Amino acid sequence: MAITSDTRPQTAERTGIGLRLPHLAEVVATRPPVGWLEIHPENFLANPHGLELLTDLARDYPVSVHTVGISIGSADGIDRDHLMRLRALIERLHPVQVSGHLAWSGVGGTYLNDLLPLPYTAETLRVVAAHLAEVQDALGRSYVIENPSSYVALATSTMTEVEFLHALVHATGCRLLCDVSNVHLSGHNMGYDPYRFIDQFPAEAVAELHLGGFTPEEDEATPGATLLVDTHAHAVAAPAWDLYAHALRRFGPQPTIVEWDNDLPALAVLMEEAAKADRIRESATRDHRVYAR
Ligand SMILES: [Fe+2]
Repeated sequence: MAITSDTRPQTAERTGIGLRLPHLAEVVATRPPVGWLEIHPENFLANPHGLELLTDLARDYPVSVHTVGISIGSADGIDRDHLMRLRALIERLHPVQVSGHLAWSGVGGTYLNDLLPLPYTAETLRVVAAHLAEVQDALGRSYVIENPSSYVALATSTMTEVEFLHALVHATGCRLLCDVSNVHLSGHNMGYDPYRFIDQFPAEAVAELHLGGFTPEEDEATPGATLLVDTHAHAVAAPAWDLYAHALRRFGPQPTIVEWDNDLPALAVLMEEAAKADRIRESATRDHRVYAR
């Protein structure tokens, strides 16, 4: 099946928010001034009332479908039933973007409810590229891949993460979702420079940016060290905002979503995070224009 949809949402003007179920009724009732809404399809596949409300919202807002259950890196293959349910949702919502993580989350028919790391090898590239083609064929549209949050380096990797992303773009022509907070926390956890990572990221493939909060935790493997965990349970931290400005100067004014999934604040707090992203994008884009001259 031909891939027909443009993957670039027409939402670059204003930052959007991750829409989670506790905010759904308020968003329906108040129609807050955010640019777009990103949902996890897994929250709506067995939730007819929620789906009805979301379908109503999709008439007023551009919607992005951000999957957490596709497991594109699983050696077992893609869950076809889940893929077909996802397709039905997409046909109903007409989202501007469909995306998911460079990770795996299932094996032997068991769904592990986590985004697990992949070794960056030629074999993984072959598996992910084949699954990406399968997903895009089934959905009839592009599927954008997000960089993961990293905690461990797998000894079998023969490429760095950014080298793998370049190889994936080269092999498949896919677009990428750059989660700036993931870059910051992975840089901290893995000991690399997140600014250099952004500088090396395949800029021409970027279709969207993410921002989200993380939680510092004691690193059990290294006493005294701190691990940053991608909990999406806090406001975006100052270093991630700084890195976001840097990413915008390099990538231009990309459509952005602020994610908050756990310990959800009042909707107004999330909207203020989105407004802050807009302010940073405004000034960084000015810098980008100067930079690009
Ligand atoms: Fe993300």
